[in-house]
Amino acid sequence: MSNKMHIKLTVNGEEQEFLAEPRELLIHTLRERLDITGPHIGCETTHCGACTVTLNGKSVKSCTVFVAQANGADITTIEGIGDPDNLHALQTSFKEHHGLQCGFCTPGMITRAAKFLEENPNPTEEDVRFGMAGNLCRCTGYQNIVKAIFATADELNAAKEAAE
Ligand code: FES
Ligand code: FES
Repeated sequence: MSNKMHIKLTVNGEEQEFLAEPRELLIHTLRERLDITGPHIGCETTHCGACTVTLNGKSVKSCTVFVAQANGADITTIEGIGDPDNLHALQTSFKEHHGLQCGFCTPGMITRAAKFLEENPNPTEEDVRFGMAGNLCRCTGYQNIVKAIFATADELNAAKEAAE
């Protein structure tokens, strides 16, 4: 008897439906089953955050969730945050402030940063560093990531004020 489970997900606004074994990790579903390869795998111990996605409004490390646990969930990955023709302010800012080098941590970083700025639109530097502490980077030393997040906060707040 097959132990596959019937799974439904909404990923970046698209409904997905498939059969999966209970042991399938969400990061593998995204990368291997759905070809959404922005989220990366940088560890086997839930430290690095390269696999970060937004699941039902929370930042989640998708290497630490079985897809069966995510059944019915609404998921956003870096691919749903912006695209080359329509970059999110964070994506522009990471580019302008040199917040990435190899780019391997960047999808998780930006996905987390987007959620973090929703949680705290006016952060201090300590808030940013603490709020991003679940995401490791081997290249940047973090300083320019912090700058990029601050610049984005200013931009988003200015846009919000202008709209009011
Ligand atoms: S792959 Fe490192 S925390 Fe998920
Ligand atoms: S840019 Fe290389 S790991 Fe962060």
